[in-house]
Amino acid sequence: MKMVLVVACALIDADGRILLAQRPEGKALAGLWEFPGGKLEAGERPEDALIRELAEELGITVRHACLAPLTFASHAYDDFHLLMPLYVCRRWEGEIAGREGQALAWVRPGKLRDYPMPPADAPLIPHLLDLLSPL
Ligand code: C5P
Repeated sequence: MKMVLVVACALIDADGRILLAQRPEGKALAGLWEFPGGKLEAGERPEDALIRELAEELGITVRHACLAPLTFASHAYDDFHLLMPLYVCRRWEGEIAGREGQALAWVRPGKLRDYPMPPADAPLIPHLLDLLSPL
């Protein structure tokens, strides 16, 4: 089966809220809420792809040192297998805005499950809750 590599990021603000972006009309899985990111271009490293996607989609600048890998999503869709590393980022430059017309939401960790997500993204939530919950 074809393997597709997408890289995603949980941007976390100073209040501990997480940014979700809604997939726009006309795209696969339209209306579902995802962690921002996108496909790797040929030869790209995951962090470089993520930095490029976050600039294109949200208008922010993220430094390599501010991206921490957390886990991977791995999901078999009907026609491809998606492998998607999830990074966490708490520092960026610029004002976040949906540059591609997508809706955005800052979501408290306990509310993440209220947002319908693609099947690849939903299993990432426990990993984020584990990271963000007090010891
Ligand atoms: O975003 P894009 O449409 O390029 O992603 C390719 C495919 O990867 C989507 O059709 C979707 O099935 C999957 N995807 C996902 N979760 C994401 C991003 C993409 O399941 N956060």
